[in-house]
Amino acid sequence: MTDSTAIRHLPDHDAFLLTGSGFSYAFAVGADGSLRHLHWGGPLGASDVAALLGDDARDFGSNTWSHPRAHTEELVQHGGRRLDETALKVEFADGVRALDLAYAGHRIAGDELAVTLTDRHYPFDAVLSYRVRPDEGVLERRCELVNRGEHPVVVDRAASASWPLPWRPRWEATWLAGMYAAETQVTRRALGPGRLVLESRRGIPGHAAQPWLALDAGAGDTTGEVWSVALAWSGSWRLVGELAFDGRLHVTAGVNDYDLRLPLAPGTSWTTPVVAGVYTAAGHDDLTDRWHRYERRHVAPRPDTIRPVLYNSWEATFFDVRPESQVELARRAAGLGAELFVVDDGWFAGRDDESAGIGDWTPDARRFPDGLAPLAEEVHRLGMRFGVWVEPESVSPDSELFRAHPDWIFQWPTRPRTLARQTHLLALSRPEVRDHLVTALDGLLSSAPIDALKWDLNRPLTEASDGVDASSPWIAQVEGLYEVIDRVRALHPGVWIESCASGGGRADLGIMSRTEWTWPSDNTDALERLAIQHGYLRAHSPHTMMAWVTDSPTYLTKREIPLRFRFHSAMCGLLGIGGNLATWSTDELAGAAEHVTRYKHIRTTVQFGTVRRLDADAPDDVTALSYQAPDGGQLAVFAFAPSVRHLRRTVLLRLRDLDPAAVYVDADTGARHSGALLMHHGLRVPLVGDYASALVVLDRAP
Ligand code: DGJ
Repeated sequence: MTDSTAIRHLPDHDAFLLTGSGFSYAFAVGADGSLRHLHWGGPLGASDVAALLGDDARDFGSNTWSHPRAHTEELVQHGGRRLDETALKVEFADGVRALDLAYAGHRIAGDELAVTLTDRHYPFDAVLSYRVRPDEGVLERRCELVNRGEHPVVVDRAASASWPLPWRPRWEATWLAGMYAAETQVTRRALGPGRLVLESRRGIPGHAAQPWLALDAGAGDTTGEVWSVALAWSGSWRLVGELAFDGRLHVTAGVNDYDLRLPLAPGTSWTTPVVAGVYTAAGHDDLTDRWHRYERRHVAPRPDTIRPVLYNSWEATFFDVRPESQVELARRAAGLGAELFVVDDGWFAGRDDESAGIGDWTPDARRFPDGLAPLAEEVHRLGMRFGVWVEPESVSPDSELFRAHPDWIFQWPTRPRTLARQTHLLALSRPEVRDHLVTALDGLLSSAPIDALKWDLNRPLTEASDGVDASSPWIAQVEGLYEVIDRVRALHPGVWIESCASGGGRADLGIMSRTEWTWPSDNTDALERLAIQHGYLRAHSPHTMMAWVTDSPTYLTKREIPLRFRFHSAMCGLLGIGGNLATWSTDELAGAAEHVTRYKHIRTTVQFGTVRRLDADAPDDVTALSYQAPDGGQLAVFAFAPSVRHLRRTVLLRLRDLDPAAVYVDADTGARHSGALLMHHGLRVPLVGDYASALVVLDRAP
């Protein structure tokens, strides 16, 4: 036993017991040197470990067809009889592609444990790292691959971790599937025998699924065990849940092995991204709380800083960015109470439409003869911060950068290059490309008082070769991106960054540790957005979830929605405004200003509070959720109904996790409700007419 409470080595059993809030995780060194997984679930004591070691319900003896190793090993390596989903596969210089790793030692430092596995024949190690985040009940895992030999090793598959789950009679999986403009849709299915494969092969996390998965054996919002994993990786990824016919389940999570050939030169190592795992015995509400707390305390930069009310010009002016119209938008945005004004795509040289300009991060001289400084200063005079849109990883063929460096992109010498949104992808695997980007962005940020960047990417990685760097582009591109962002942030520590990839194509824990918030979707239709936000909030904290109020009808769906509903929908996250304010009526502008004021009154609660989905009480077409302030002093309850059905004029919503003895006062009507009444009977919320929405603010009486 060590000093650490979170991690214990139990020498009598050669076992490890990792414990955080509400969970324990245990494994031991087996007689053959392999690491045998023992437990991931509710908290256990050191005295329980002997029983875990003695409990082997699936001892199949010599039956090779049902060999259970893949479901009980800490890291499932390719080799021997492990014919299920494996986490690690390499090729040694002599062509051998099987691993034979055995425990060689461990090190405990504070809340971190590193266990070294060494190959029995080759000078090759896999170091499994575990870090307990005790308060949130999160376990972070990653794996370092070390080539200690004199010959190269090629890594063909390198997941961050295998996660064996305990036996349960049935499993339900919840994940966030979607597509462009319909990201993060909550998807729930019973798992059958076989594999659930969630992945991206696009070089970014993508719109089709988030690198996040939750598994339960029949949990609800407030009850039941849930296990969940999320990967901190902004490139291609893969999460596999493999369920054997007899109910054994294990999850493998990491970078995608699609087209992966990662050379490890002699004497070098590579560390996988972190995969975080959460266990709760208290249902999906508690799972959400744990992920949110984890993002706030251990992932997001500036975790305690209130996010500003944003204005973004994209849907107002698209590529027609001119200083006069931007200033007019800025005046109106400031009048509404916006605090950050971001000029989106279209401000830089040659950018009249999609066909040109990406790569040249200098203002268009025709429209901005004196650079961006005059506009930025005017925005500052209006009392707002100033930001601009960039897409640093891409380059237009029609750009000065591409003409100067046509070899800086991913391409195969003998194959056509794939254009996507009329751009190529710069090879951030190459140091000179990274240096160029840092210099260009530094130049831009130094040229004017720029406080924020919207960092976008609108194409996948296709031709996976930069012609120079031998390492895998799938890995090097993401690591290169992280380096560029880190260097830019170090040079300009005051600058805020929004992460975007054609909407919500890049919203993983890796990019979120480097950006203040994300743009979850290009779909700003306030009704569609509710479903997108509902899913997003499963995995991510509301203080990372930007949402704009745009024009009605919106340009993507052509749906008309009243201003009030649009504001209420966007107020569930980080309120932004993205409409063409030049066309808004005086009444609309006055209404908008009132909503912004109201949002500022509740935004600490919304951004940093405890979120509850209140669907269970609501009819199918009603969306409802509540936010409770971190100190419990304020509640914001939102409800939305797209159309009148069955003579409905109100919904009764039972709130959760209040103090039953406290009194909560409606900030608008003065009505007083006990916590007990709100939880056990409910709050009656009016929803009258089509596109009805409500925001009820309740203050806890002193
Ligand atoms: C895609 C983003 O998601 C949009 O918000 C906008 O910034 C465009 N790119 C600009 O090209």
